[in-house]
Amino acid sequence: MTTQTEQHDRAAGATGGDRLMVTDTRTGNEYELPIENGAVHATELRKIKVSDDDFGLLSYDPAYMATASCRSAITFIDGEKGILEYRGYPIEQLAEQSTYLEVAYLLINGHLPSQAELDEWTDLITNHTFVHENIKEFMQGFRHDAHPMGMLLASVGALSTFYPEAHAVHDADVRHAQVIRLIAKLPTLAAFAYRHNRGMPYVYPDNELSYAGNFLSMLYKMSEREYKPDPRLEHALDVLFILHADHEQNCSASAVRSVGSSQVDPYSAVAAGVAALYGPLHGGANEAVLRMLHRIGATENIPAFIEGVKQGKERLMGFGHRVYKNYDPRARIIKRAAYEVFEVTGTNPLLELAIALEQIALEDEYFVARKLYPNVDYYSGMIYEALGMPVAMFPVLFAIGRTSGWIAQWLEMIEDPEQRISRPRQIYTGEHERDYVPIGKRQV
Ligand code: ACO
Repeated sequence: MTTQTEQHDRAAGATGGDRLMVTDTRTGNEYELPIENGAVHATELRKIKVSDDDFGLLSYDPAYMATASCRSAITFIDGEKGILEYRGYPIEQLAEQSTYLEVAYLLINGHLPSQAELDEWTDLITNHTFVHENIKEFMQGFRHDAHPMGMLLASVGALSTFYPEAHAVHDADVRHAQVIRLIAKLPTLAAFAYRHNRGMPYVYPDNELSYAGNFLSMLYKMSEREYKPDPRLEHALDVLFILHADHEQNCSASAVRSVGSSQVDPYSAVAAGVAALYGPLHGGANEAVLRMLHRIGATENIPAFIEGVKQGKERLMGFGHRVYKNYDPRARIIKRAAYEVFEVTGTNPLLELAIALEQIALEDEYFVARKLYPNVDYYSGMIYEALGMPVAMFPVLFAIGRTSGWIAQWLEMIEDPEQRISRPRQIYTGEHERDYVPIGKRQV
């Protein structure tokens, strides 16, 4: 018997290759679904029908547990082995030898820059750090205690109204201009949000400083003529930006791709990424880790806390990951960076508590069986706190680093001929064919 897929393949001129053999017990029909890159194209399932007017079989995958939504050449993760690579380069080498701006170039352009390319890139970004004065007015509209992540979310979205040409997403030159603006202006918006919270005047960018140094200046400069960041803190912040720069199809990158697939401008798409990162299960996790550690308070309280986690009362924040079933390589680098920062700022008593909690969890059967290890956010909050950031700024710092990844994902999506507007299907579970009842006749 010739299967429908074989007929299709013959018509399409396809031969050979790995196949998944499927028998539909509803009809007795057999199908051969091509396997490519370890995946079956979900639209192949649509050929599996019970009748001609049947829509065809759907795959049901809430939360995308086993669905690849794109082909991507940006970031590689092997969650079982704990490997993370940007464009093929191990995260450990990049964190040790590169800078955030070079990594941003790598993610977006696919190769490490030559010296001339890096100089031009750095110049362009440095010269676009200022924002329109009206952004300041816009920021002033927020309450004094507005969450800085909410302010960042709104102000990144607002940039689309300052650069209306950005809607021309198919024009490579226009795209490039917005890429530069986004990377350059995110730290400025983030710092304005911070200063607003403190009731302090906004500090304009200092283009003599590095990317991380300028950000520290916009946060902390007071009346001094020139702000001179401590190079060790500047370096630690730059490393954190590198570690957070991309992480393939995570919740916020998927949000950027999904919203961007409507061909909206990149500011609006990146605002969607910021919104996703605002959530406690994603970028808000490091904030939650610090709150958790403060609540535990002392090492003798750890066993009772762990017991509560095992009983499902709460989660051990900063532990576990959808992809990593091993130590998150970024957590290891951050743990090292934490010690370097504490040499400058003095130790944080929470570090001792965090290390003790980690040790107990890593030996506990509950965490071992579920392969729950520290993720990137377990130690990052402690560094941010040591740098003088309030917890509400933690996801904002994450967003600055992640902007280059969001942009790289957005650019790849825009140029991918296989991508169309993102639009999942559903399995409808509601009522059918109910007649409208006037309000006076409804029985409640
Ligand atoms: N503490 C305790 N138990 C946990 C934790 C945790 N942190 N994470 C997962 N588990 C348990 C779950 O209860 C579940 O147990 P069960 O099988 O007995 O029901 C099992 O481990 C699998 O967990 P899922 O929730 O199915 O895993 P999922 O992949 O959906 O979630 C997530 C991943 C959201 C990161 C989760 O591990 C979590 O909530 N961690 C805490 C929040 C956090 O640190 N987020 C930051 C992630 S990194 C980032 O976004 C940059």
